[in-house]
This record gives sequence, structure tokens and C-alpha cells, in this order.
Amino acid sequence: MSRPQHFGWFLSRGFGPHGWGHPYHDWDYTWHRPELYQQSVRALEQAGFDLVIIEDALSLGNADTLDLRIRSAYGGPKHDPLLLAPYLFDVTQHIGIAPTVNPLAYSPYQAARQFATLQHLSDYRFGINVVTDVGSSRHFGVEPLDHDGAYDRAEEWLGAVQRLWHSWGPDALVADAATGHFADGSKLDALHHRGAHYSFDGPLNALPFPTLPSRDHLLASRQNPPYSGDSVVDFGESRGGEGSSGDPIVVSPGGSPRGLAFAGTNSQVQLALASLDIETVRAYRAKVLESAAAHGRTAADIDILFVFKPIITASREEADRVVEASAHPSDADLLVIAAGQSSDLETDLTGLDLDKPIDPAIFGDHVSRGSIKGLLGRFDSFADATLREILTAKARLGRISTRSGYVGTAEEIADFIQELGDDADNDGFIFSGDLHPVTIHRMLDELVPILRRRGILRRSYGDGGLRGNLRDF
Ligand SMILES: Cc1cc2nc3c(=O)[nH]c(=O)nc-3n(C[C@H](O)[C@H](O)[C@H](O)COP(=O)(O)O)c2cc1C
Repeated sequence: MSRPQHFGWFLSRGFGPHGWGHPYHDWDYTWHRPELYQQSVRALEQAGFDLVIIEDALSLGNADTLDLRIRSAYGGPKHDPLLLAPYLFDVTQHIGIAPTVNPLAYSPYQAARQFATLQHLSDYRFGINVVTDVGSSRHFGVEPLDHDGAYDRAEEWLGAVQRLWHSWGPDALVADAATGHFADGSKLDALHHRGAHYSFDGPLNALPFPTLPSRDHLLASRQNPPYSGDSVVDFGESRGGEGSSGDPIVVSPGGSPRGLAFAGTNSQVQLALASLDIETVRAYRAKVLESAAAHGRTAADIDILFVFKPIITASREEADRVVEASAHPSDADLLVIAAGQSSDLETDLTGLDLDKPIDPAIFGDHVSRGSIKGLLGRFDSFADATLREILTAKARLGRISTRSGYVGTAEEIADFIQELGDDADNDGFIFSGDLHPVTIHRMLDELVPILRRRGILRRSYGDGGLRGNLRDF
């Protein structure tokens, strides 16, 4: 038996038309209705997954490059993932849902109120994936901040949201039906927040969360909800941190030094994007845990879950064939990759000569240096390679058995997952893709039973909501 790990699903590219243009769009891919997502999230709960994180972007991007973003539906449209969450909660009992939220779009009061409501409605299964992109500031009438400034604002925002959640003091809820006394107004904190980015008064008009969950306590409170009049439960005093065990959990994806510092201070889950070798995983974990320790937190307070997108084949021979074929992409294959890159980079690569180097002058000022570096991959500069060579390198897959990529049989993928758990202390993985039954079954049908037999994947859930899922082991 091996170390148990946590598993989640990242609905990458958000609540949008992923299947558009692909054959499986004809698999009843009605992306703007809830049914396919509901079916998928039930499958993930059957599979013992802890949570689903839903990507989001608030904007279609630069006004001059709108066509590039939507021409092949890479960059939009995207509906609001927060509003999808209740539909997913409605058909599940244990799995958590964490939509992406950007502090620039919500005032702390509105965020605290909506998220508190969703936490109650979902029976403690709500979380938020906090991101700091500033490119969409203009839609909200706010000045764009620089990279670290956006993190500073996110920290002020999160602290304010958590303070609002706890603006009901521990004894505020009396809930005594015999005396007709529901709540004690003198125990509410009518806080006055005056910060660098936000200025508002409290208290919040939504109920806070009991400092739970002990399994027995939760069961009891479900029979007698804390505000029903005949039982009083313990409401948390602290704001944020591990003491607030009823609060929605915080996920963060930023990988910069400032992003990792944010995770160490605030997050229960770090959505980690890194190359998945033992040394890199260890080093990434060490950085996040160092930051957590600096804020009085420990490895038990945060799960670092690595984004993973394996290609699972029926046999080793098939895996070899897939990898071999990827080394010789057709021009049509390269054009598909170019279209995705064009959307992400907001720069049209699809009309360029494949056999010439790219002129770096084509990238506008709005394209980040990091994104350009991402396009270059293993090449140092655009003078070193033709567009064909850059895109061919992107198309190239590798075998998981040799640790040169993520193509392999379910047994081989399970060996890899087990190795990272046992040898790099890995907490778990977030599989990435669209939230469609075809994608989920393609990736998980064979893998789930193998991981369960090895003791790596849970067979049942506790009763502590999303935070409980993360703390079950
Ligand atoms: C795995 C992963 C998922 C992300 N998901 C989102 C997202 O859904 N929406 C968004 O605006 N940014 C997303 N980001 C971007 C981050 O929020 C952040 O803006 C970016 O990583 C820059 O921060 P950093 O410099 O700290 O890495 C994601 C980043 C990663 C690595």
C-alpha cells in the first residue's frame, strides 16, 4: 500500500465551448447548459475526487485582437463559473467546487456575502481559486496594478472577506426558540475597513460558519441546523487561517515568488504547474512550505496539487506509436497548435511562413515576456528556430515510462503517481481538461481502479465538506 493522495479536476479554459470544432461536439456538447457538467461532476465524485476547480478569465482580451480570441473559441466566450457551482452542488454530496475569482471583480462585501451563501447552500463544499490577472481592469473601471500590486490587493481583499465572515462573534447566534431570541446584535463586529484598496463597513448580513467539522458535530448540526432554534454550535472566532475551519477554502495558482508567498500565507490548495520530475516537485513543495512556515503554518495546512494531463493508452505499443507520431506533425496539426498559441498570445501566428523564424516585432506591448518565453520553449531566441521547429517541439509527446512525457498505460501512469507520492512526498494531482464525460472517462476509467487497489485514491468520503476532504488524510 502506498501513500494516499488527493485528486481534483481543473476545468481548464473555463465554462465555455471547449468541444467546438472537435468531433465530440456532436456528443451533445451543449456547453451553456448544466447537464453535461452535472454528469461529469457526478462521475468525478464516484471516482473519489476531492474537488473541481473552474478556470476563468473576465475578458476577451485586447480590443484589437478579439477575432483571434474567439475565431476558434480558444479564448472565449466564457460564462461565469460562480453561477455554475450551485448546479454542480445540486447533484453531488461530497466533492468540492472552487470557481476562479479575481478580486478586481468583487467588492469584499459582495464576495463575502455570495461566498457565504454558497458555502451554506453546498454544505461546506465551496472554495475559491484566487487569481490576480489585471488585463481586464478596464471592464471594471479600475486602474490596472502591477504584478505584485495585484497580489497585495488580493491579500487585502481576502483578509477583508474573511473578517466579514467572522463579523458575527462566537456568541452572536443565540438561536433560543424558547425565549424567541435569535441573535445578539451586540456581539456583531460593525467593522470599519479602511485599506489601500478597499473602504467599507460591516458587519456582514449572512450567517458565519460553525468552527467544525467534527464528523459527529456535523451530523448533529445537519439534523438540527445551528439556526433552527434548538441547538447552538460553536462559531469560529478567528479570521482566516486554520482556526476558521468552516470558511470556504482558498486555492491559488500563481507560481512567481509573490504567488508562492500568497499561497504559503493564505491557501489550503496550491494549484501547481511545473514539470513533474521528482527534483522539481520537491523544490516547488519546499518553496511553498517555506513560505507557509514563515507564517506559522505547516504542511498539514496546505495541499500542493500538481496539474497533470496524461494521455492514457490501451497498451505500451500504442503509447509508443502515439509518441512516435507526435514527432512528425502534419501542417494541419501545427496549424491547430498555432491557433491556440495565437489566442493565448493575442498575436496571429496562423498566417506566418512555417519555415521562417518569427520576427519578435509582431508581439505587441500587451503580450507578456513570460508568454513569449513559453512559446519559445527550449529555444533561447526566435533567431534559433523556424516557426515549424517551435510548433513541432510543442507537439512532441514523451513516454511516461522513461519520464520524458505523460503518455502511457494506466498502470504506467499509476506507477508515476505512486512514485511522486512516495519519493517526493507529493500531496496529489489536479487532472486538467474540459468537464465532459468523454474526457473524464478517457482519462480515468482504467486509472481509478488501479489507484484504489494501491491505496492511493480514496474509496469513500468523510463528512467534513471540502475542507474535510483535504484533511481526511
Ligand atoms: C495552473 C494555473 C491555473 C491558472 N488559472 C487561472 C485562471 O483560471 N484565471 C486567471 O485569470 N489566471 C489563472 N492563472 C494565472 C494566475 O492567476 C496568475 O495570474 C499567473 O500565474 C501569474 O501569477 P504568477 O506570476 O504568480 O505565476 C493560472 C495559473 C496557473 C499556473
